[in-house]
This record gives sequence, structure tokens and C-alpha cells, in this order.
Amino acid sequence: MERTYIKDLKEKIGQEVSISGWVNVRRDQGKMVFLDLRDVTGKVQAVVLPMHTEALEVAQRVRSEWVVSVSAQVNKRPDRNIKEGVLNGDIELEVLNIEVLNEAQTPPMDIASDGHEIGEETRLKYRYLDLRRPRLQYNMRLRHSVTLHVRNFLSRHGFLEIETPILTKSTPEGSRDYVVPSRLEQGKFYALPQSPQQYKQLLMVAGTERYFQVARCMRDEDTRGDRQPEFTQLDMELSFVREEDIMRLNEELLIELVQTLTPEKKIQTIPFPRITYKDAMEKYGNDKPDIREDKNDPDLLAFCWVIDFPFFEKDKKGAWTFTHNPFSSPQKAYYEDLMEKKNIGEILATQYDIALNGFEIGGGSIRNHRPEALIKVLEIMGHTEESIRSNFGHMLEAFSYGAPPHGGIAWGLDRLVTLLTNEPNIREVIAFPKTGEGRDLMMEAPSEISAEQLQELGIEVKKK
Ligand code: AMO
Repeated sequence: MERTYIKDLKEKIGQEVSISGWVNVRRDQGKMVFLDLRDVTGKVQAVVLPMHTEALEVAQRVRSEWVVSVSAQVNKRPDRNIKEGVLNGDIELEVLNIEVLNEAQTPPMDIASDGHEIGEETRLKYRYLDLRRPRLQYNMRLRHSVTLHVRNFLSRHGFLEIETPILTKSTPEGSRDYVVPSRLEQGKFYALPQSPQQYKQLLMVAGTERYFQVARCMRDEDTRGDRQPEFTQLDMELSFVREEDIMRLNEELLIELVQTLTPEKKIQTIPFPRITYKDAMEKYGNDKPDIREDKNDPDLLAFCWVIDFPFFEKDKKGAWTFTHNPFSSPQKAYYEDLMEKKNIGEILATQYDIALNGFEIGGGSIRNHRPEALIKVLEIMGHTEESIRSNFGHMLEAFSYGAPPHGGIAWGLDRLVTLLTNEPNIREVIAFPKTGEGRDLMMEAPSEISAEQLQELGIEVKKK
């Protein structure tokens, strides 16, 4: 018989059906056995009556998390047993036959609860079980809906989704790179991308005009609640635009997304307020202000833009460095200062960040599409001619072939979904996250590699 999904059982009252899934809970009452059965679409209560002797025998043997295929009659529950507002609260399956598809060991943790009470070591080691819990199923589903919505919206607006390399060259995003040794050129390394920044700009030189990507980014930095060593950006870049165009488009997308996918959420202010970096620091003491009027309301989303960031700041050694992105352009009024390397500390960038309830969920800027302006930025940061050529030569060369003015933005997709699901940290919305120490407890990564692999790569590991 064809499989019926559990969510569709209510349309089959009086009929015989076949369902497949897991035993969620089993209650043995001696003469009969109750089974809560679960598939990806929901749960249903089933009863195995004494007259179905073979089924009863199997039912007495099965345990939680066994995988079964059950044929049953769909019955309406008597009025006194109806559970209002619960999926399948008004029906019950009368089991005719149970086929065990796979047995299961007793799970190392409760997977029916929301899991907040369980230690993260266990949850991450057995993530494939942890992901069975309804809370995480919901998170994965919402995350899928968010990316799908974004893809549809951007496609509708003329964007192309283009994949960019993972094995690439170190990009200066301000973090440490993860590197991959080259076998064919021993002693040389690829770097994993901290973001697709350079590629997306090169796509603008290529005439793509509107690019986006749901892009994985890797940064070797200390992990926190809102930070993972590998995370996902919704990355985009557009040609022939100003700050205003990018901010308006992203605002429209965010509003549409929230109103469609999480209609229970209220956006505090539309259009999103804009706060200068200076005001944010003075009023809130940080550059991702939490402007919620009521911090007790879990369904309030207070988006705001932060603008007018300084382009440069002094690093620990007293040298100038970029605050966000070396490829940004200064605001028009400061262009002359940049070209003359004057009033460096006063130069404002075209950078715009977007904050939500006290988290930075995205940021971007208009870029320096003129090679001579990019060279000035790099010179201010102390790059020599030689280091500019070896690190940025390919960008400067590309810009010399008719680069259009362009700009873009990247959202921290994990952070946005975390806030939409009211989760305490981004690990709850990533299928297979890493621990605070950057470890994957399930796969046991990072791990050693064989002497043979090392030799092939021409690498020797220093003994501690
Ligand atoms: P930026 O470095 O600001 O910009 O990154 C964009 C957004 O990505 C999120 N984010 C992170 N999320 C989880 N874990 C991390 N370790 C992490 N690091 C950053 C944040 C952040 O706002 N190329 C530029 C974008 C551009 O200018 O277009 C960039 O990567 O939400």
C-alpha cells in the first residue's frame, strides 16, 4: 500500500492506511499497547488491540526510536478523547500490522524534550539524534524557508546565484585564515574564503551586475554564541548602485521575509531607523545597538542601520588599519582627503551595518572601483608597492579593464535565523555546528592524518 504521511491521516478517516516512521513513545497496558508514531510531518496516536494478536506481539517488543511500517485503520476518536488544537488530536489509528524496519538502542538522551536541559557535549556528539527533536526540526525548516524566500526574491529582482571557490587565496577580512596545503606545489597553501568578497567584485567586473550566493565562510577566530568558525552569509553585490539602493532593497527583502515566514513577529519601526556610528557609540556604547522599546517581548524585532563609520582606525601597534573592509570606498565628501592621504582619522566610509536586537546581522559598502583609490587605501595601511602587487595585483589589474561602480552587503544568515527562532545561540540553527573549541564532536574533527598523507603534502608536524 502507498505510504501516507502522518499529517494527511485526518483526510483518511474510515480507511486503511500504511505509515512509516519512528516509535515516539510506547505505553504498554498489558492487554493493549499504545504507540505514538512519528514521521517528518508529525505525530499520531495508535492503539494495538488484543484481537490483533500478531501486531500486539510485535508492539510489546518495540521500543522508542525503532523504525516501523504500520498498516492501520484510521478512526475518529470518541468525543471525550478529542485533544483540541493538536495535530491528529481527533483521530486514532487501530493497528492491523507492524513491520519492524530497524531496531534502535536506547538513545543517550531524551529527544522528545526541547533539549535545553541536556549538556551540549552529548547533543553535539549525537547530533543526528538531537536533530530529531521538534524544536530543531522547526529550526531547520524555518532556515530552509528563509533561504528559499531569499532566493526567490532575489531571482525575481534579476540576481544570479553564482558559486565561488572554496579553495582560494587568503583574503584580508581581518581574521585568521584556514589554510589547505597543496600537494602539487609543496610548501604552498590555499586559503578557505573568509567571505566571497573579491570574487563577487570580480563578477561585477565580469558584467554580472546582480550577484548573490548563500555562501559558506571560514574564519579561524574564537567561537562565541553568535560566532562559528564556519558560517553562512547571504552575500550579494550590485553594479551601478548607491548606498541607498542597496539598503532599500535589503530592507524590503527583510520586511517581506519576516511578514511571510514569522507573521507573529512585530517589526518595531519601518522604515528601519538609521543611526550614525558616532551616535550609536555615544548612546548605546556599541555599534550594533539594541533599540528595542520593550526587551521582554520575544516577538519584537528592532532592525536599524548603522552608518557613517570611520574608514580607518589605529591598530595595536599604532598603524592605520581598515575598520570593515579594505575594498570600501570613502563617502564622496572624503574622496579628496583619501587621495591626498589627509585627515585620515576623519574619513568616513560608505559602510552600512544592519543591527537586529543588539546583534550585527549584516554589513556592506560601496566599493572603490577605481584602482588609484584602492592603492591609496592600501598605502595608508602601510603596504609597500611590492606587497600591494603580490596581494592585490589581480584586483587592481581587473579594475583597470573597465570596472563598473559597485557595492554590496552580506547578512549573517545564522544570526538572522537565530533571532527569528528566539534561540539563545547560532548553534541551534546550524545542523552540524562546532563546539566553543572549534571541534566537531560527532565526526571527531579536527583529527590527525596519516604519515602517508603528510609525506605526500611535504609536511612535517612539530611534536609538542
Ligand atoms: P562581515 O565580515 O561584516 O562582512 O560579515 C557579514 C556578516 O556575517 C556575520 N558573521 C558571522 N556569523 C557567524 N559567525 C561568524 N564567525 C561571523 N562573522 C561574521 C555577521 C556579519 O554582519 N565581505 C563582507 C560583506 C560586504 O562588505 O559585502 C563581509 O564579510 O552577521
